Amino acid sequence: MSEKGGIKRVLSPSILAADFGNLRQDVKTAEEAGADTLHFDVMDGTFVPNISFGPAVIQSVREASDSFFDVHMMVKDPERYFEDMKKAGADSITIHQEATTHLDRGLNQIHELGLKAGVALNPATPESAIRYVLPLVDLVLVMSVNPGFGGQKLIPYTLDKISALCDIRKEAGLSFHIGIDGGVTKENLSTVLSAGADFIIAGSSAFHPKEKIDKNIRDLLNALQK
Ligand code: DX5
Ligand code: ZN
Repeated sequence: MSEKGGIKRVLSPSILAADFGNLRQDVKTAEEAGADTLHFDVMDGTFVPNISFGPAVIQSVREASDSFFDVHMMVKDPERYFEDMKKAGADSITIHQEATTHLDRGLNQIHELGLKAGVALNPATPESAIRYVLPLVDLVLVMSVNPGFGGQKLIPYTLDKISALCDIRKEAGLSFHIGIDGGVTKENLSTVLSAGADFIIAGSSAFHPKEKIDKNIRDLLNALQK
């Protein structure tokens, strides 16, 4: 994968858009096409209106995969499940600034488990809300849709937040990834990359239609090299 400003660009296909009845096969197809990172959207029905899956599903995929598992917890008080996520096979855990009272503690707990730590921001949350914890994170995940569902349209103003984070990262001499999650398509990917995102979550654009997973992943990976 290509590097920009020393930061490697990563594609993290979101299995939320895969066929759950055929999950291992869809993951295998994505991996054979070159994906080496997978995004797991855990939703609790409280922090977000939807319920998706928990550690058992992550573990079941882990039994058939060596990819890097990027777990996005859309869960209130996510600290309750860090150990379960690790046991299930998570390599990184991303928590929402809006979902925990003690963000600093949570990020440290994730590191203490030996995992990478990320912080996610809802569209309306400004980057200033996480200013003091930036040295603690491996990933800032900018939500480009209101979390809870795949297949939504990217909210354009969230790209301004990505650019602001790029400036902050440079000024502070930090090296966290800047992720974008929601509504990324082959059509808007170059705009997203120009804004400065380097960790790209792709749900529908990776796994839909299911006959084209292989081509979708190859196209997205190629676009990341440019
Ligand atoms: C949304 C999730 C996303 C979702 C993205 O709440 O956090 O990761 O899977 O799906 P698309 O790419 O279809 O918008
Ligand atoms: Zn996500």
